[in-house]
Amino acid sequence: MGTVYEKTVTSPVNIAVIKYWGKRDTNLILPTNSSLSVTLSQDHLQSKTTIRASPDFEKTRLWLNGVEDTAIEKNKRLQNCLSETRRLRKEYEERLRKDKNVDNVIPLSEYNLHICSENNFPTAAGLASSASGFACLAYTLSQIYELPISTTELSKIARQGSGSACRSLFGGFVAWEMGFQDDGSDSQAVQIASQDHWPELEALICVVSDTKKDTSSTEGMQNTVNTSTLLRHRIEHVVPLRMKSMIKAIHERDFQKFAEITMQDSNQFHALCLDTYPPIFYLNDVSRAIIRVITEYNSSNPERKLKAAYTFDAGPNAVIYTTSENVPEIINLIAKYFPGNENTRDYFSDPFQLFVGKT
Ligand code: PMV
Repeated sequence: MGTVYEKTVTSPVNIAVIKYWGKRDTNLILPTNSSLSVTLSQDHLQSKTTIRASPDFEKTRLWLNGVEDTAIEKNKRLQNCLSETRRLRKEYEERLRKDKNVDNVIPLSEYNLHICSENNFPTAAGLASSASGFACLAYTLSQIYELPISTTELSKIARQGSGSACRSLFGGFVAWEMGFQDDGSDSQAVQIASQDHWPELEALICVVSDTKKDTSSTEGMQNTVNTSTLLRHRIEHVVPLRMKSMIKAIHERDFQKFAEITMQDSNQFHALCLDTYPPIFYLNDVSRAIIRVITEYNSSNPERKLKAAYTFDAGPNAVIYTTSENVPEIINLIAKYFPGNENTRDYFSDPFQLFVGKT
């Protein structure tokens, strides 16, 4: 028996405040616009990946949440991440042998891998499971292969697994710069500010439904690219300005601006879904009720200050951004309107889950 090499890594989820929706290159996963997200703490939502490498493994295998995926050869995105990191490992081994004269280099690039990946939250329910999952895969690969590579460089590999995954490699506030090159060499994630920059910012995750969504983001966004006329307007006239304003709001810890852009961008993303032909519906009645409750909450205080901001990805679950002093009030509000009783049982997973996550 040869030695088994092993690495385990965990990765967080990120929730976009300026949404990525649309690819200009579906193979390399190059987006039609830049996007920006907040990485959540790993207390409630996390992916965990263990990779083992051994000369004795007959083939590379993958288990997702304990179930083996027996068709990984057809999973192009996974294969892209594996072949890209393996190529870098091979180069690194050659460099070690040649330049550094190390003769006992472990030929890990030639070994098959056993990959186990799990999420501690519902997969594919619009809670960014593919983002944390592929970020975790790319990071674990870089660790087991001991790749001398920067996080931004690694983000270009994670991006090829799932676009939004590139942003989960950093904590705090992260931009995915769309880039302009056809080969994707400048389509990468960069950190705008670290997690310590805005300690008062909190994210409340309202799990409205934990069932798998009907339209995957991959299928949905390309239908939007092919049929929506609103998308062009968004790409050219909306997102570039919003990216600038959002980065400024984050640097200045300006919750008013942050909240306004977050809600406007979530609204526009779901408007794009409606503008897709045939339309895509990710929000349900509970999601819309949450929008109404937060809007009412923001307009009911005497100074009419924005105290909370909702955002929804490709699913009905809400993420509410707020600042620490408002958290008890918002939890009470949600509990009052959505007590998880007979009338709401259709919508909520039972029991209704509300996570209060530090950002
Ligand atoms: O990375 P994907 O293919 O799961 O797409 C994610 C798209 C949204 O979550 C809706 C927006 C975003 O920027 O995360």
